[in-house]
Amino acid sequence: MSPHHSESVPDRLHDARHRGIDPRFVFDFQNYDEPDDDRQRWSTWLSVEPLCRGPEPRPDWVVTSQAAVDTELGILKTGKEADVFLLERAVPGTEALGESVVMAAKRYRGHDHTDFHRSSSYTDGRKVRNTRDARAMARKTAHGKAVAAGQWAWAEWESLTRLWELGVPVPYPVQLDGTELLMEWITVEGETAPRLAQTRPEPELLASYFEQIRDVLAELSRHGMVHGDLSAYNILAAGERLVVIDLPQVIDLVGNPAGLDFLLRDCTNVCRWFQARGLAVDEHDLYGELLAHAF
Ligand SMILES: Nc1ncnc2c1ncn2[C@@H]1O[C@H](COP(=O)(O)OP(=O)(O)OP(=O)(O)O)[C@@H](O)[C@H]1O
Ligand SMILES: [Mg+2]
Repeated sequence: MSPHHSESVPDRLHDARHRGIDPRFVFDFQNYDEPDDDRQRWSTWLSVEPLCRGPEPRPDWVVTSQAAVDTELGILKTGKEADVFLLERAVPGTEALGESVVMAAKRYRGHDHTDFHRSSSYTDGRKVRNTRDARAMARKTAHGKAVAAGQWAWAEWESLTRLWELGVPVPYPVQLDGTELLMEWITVEGETAPRLAQTRPEPELLASYFEQIRDVLAELSRHGMVHGDLSAYNILAAGERLVVIDLPQVIDLVGNPAGLDFLLRDCTNVCRWFQARGLAVDEHDLYGELLAHAF
């Protein structure tokens, strides 16, 4: 064992700073002694580019310490193209001081995207940085699939960041690392918030929920965006508040040739659910109202 192993990480960082070493270089040598538990890793916060860290002002629960450790808590839900896990990020020994948070980690799968339901109509006009990547994606090689997974993760990251900055109720995007997106875990009394589809709200709450979704759709339309896969399955009911999730396919209302079709489909999916719960709403009225915001 080298002498370094007996020293704790915070001690070493402190020591390095003391010697005037840029902390960004210190991070690399943390890898020499990964945490023993294989459910753990060093916090990846400082290893991602600044653009891949959540927008300011950051909520105070975001843990940014270099001494933090990420612990895998288990899977929350497997989806069609990604799996969502719970991940705790905490500075060991400081839980009581609040340097500890549980986040949702959405990980896009880099393999077998043959039944990927997001069709190319979503990606029309999306740029691929180099021709090698473009050819690999077209041939569906392993490299191509990894590039595609990274693109979906990046696309969701960009949408979440933009919407959060606009004040739209989405989970706060904490960080993006390749195909892994860390975001705010939406809860009700400490448990994962149910999808809207699983709830049976009383009339008053039902009406309030509809108003909230209508506001979200209006704000998106005003900025020329369409969710593209909106339904009661991609909306979480956090008590009285709704939070919209699952945003990799957000599309450009005007630039995408199918923009208006996606908008009408989102309106229809949402209105059908509210109608089935007894609220008199109409998808065409909603669609017309949204178009008025957009143009
Ligand atoms: N930030 C979050 N907080 C709480 N639960 C979440 C969060 N993000 C995702 N989930 C849960 O994980 C599920 C899947 O997430 P999401 O819809 O983003 O992924 P997906 O791969 O598109 O899944 P699906 O194919 O089921 O639509 C959600 O329905 C929700 O139950
Ligand atoms: Mg979903």
